[in-house]
Amino acid sequence: PARCVVAVDGPSGSGKSTVSRRLATALDGVYLDTGAMYRAVTWAVLQAGVDLQDPEAIAKIAQETELSIGTDPVAPHFFANGTNVDGPIRGPEVTGAVSAVAAVPAVRRLLVEQQRALIAGTVRIVVEGRDISSVVAPDADLKVYLTASAAARAQRRSAEDATDVAATQADLARRDRLDSSRATDPLRQADDAVEVDTTGMGIDEVVSHLLDLLNSKA
Ligand code: C5P
Repeated sequence: PARCVVAVDGPSGSGKSTVSRRLATALDGVYLDTGAMYRAVTWAVLQAGVDLQDPEAIAKIAQETELSIGTDPVAPHFFANGTNVDGPIRGPEVTGAVSAVAAVPAVRRLLVEQQRALIAGTVRIVVEGRDISSVVAPDADLKVYLTASAAARAQRRSAEDATDVAATQADLARRDRLDSSRATDPLRQADDAVEVDTTGMGIDEVVSHLLDLLNSKA
């Protein structure tokens, strides 16, 4: 397709990143990892030593933090205030704090605005997150809600991170609970999003299924 926006939402570990990057490459488009934006702001919040219970202080840091968000689907790189944060944003400190930061309404307003501007400036883009279909890009050409069983999600994530499966499953469950229960833009399946359960599906299979869905709409 000439111009297209694909929204990919779903819980942690559902395969969103891998699938979104592969799909963006197949479309010869770019990729926007909105989770990386929340993670980069969280990194800055932790650097500043701000209290995670203080939404105003968190919002202030978010406003002051200059993000540079890479959109190359093969090698996206992220900077906060000029520092490369590719490594630290995947670390346990940021992962442990990100849901609290992402629950602050002023942080969401700020990042959603940046996400919309980024999307508007592109031709073909795959955007992954929690609220893309419902909030960021409700006009997307294809809206996908990726799921997988809790066990499958934990297994994939722990294989990626070389961590314990049980601990990973507990951490994913904790984040899902926080992300689904927050007041502002919680994780939920949009009414018009196509649910794709990737349990037992390979990456190639998921990507070609999404390409089929996109082509059947064009
Ligand atoms: O996708 P990823 O696991 O990197 O996202 C990290 C966290 O960022 C999520 O657990 C969620 O709290 C937040 N997030 C969000 N909205 C998005 C993307 C991520 O609230 N669109």
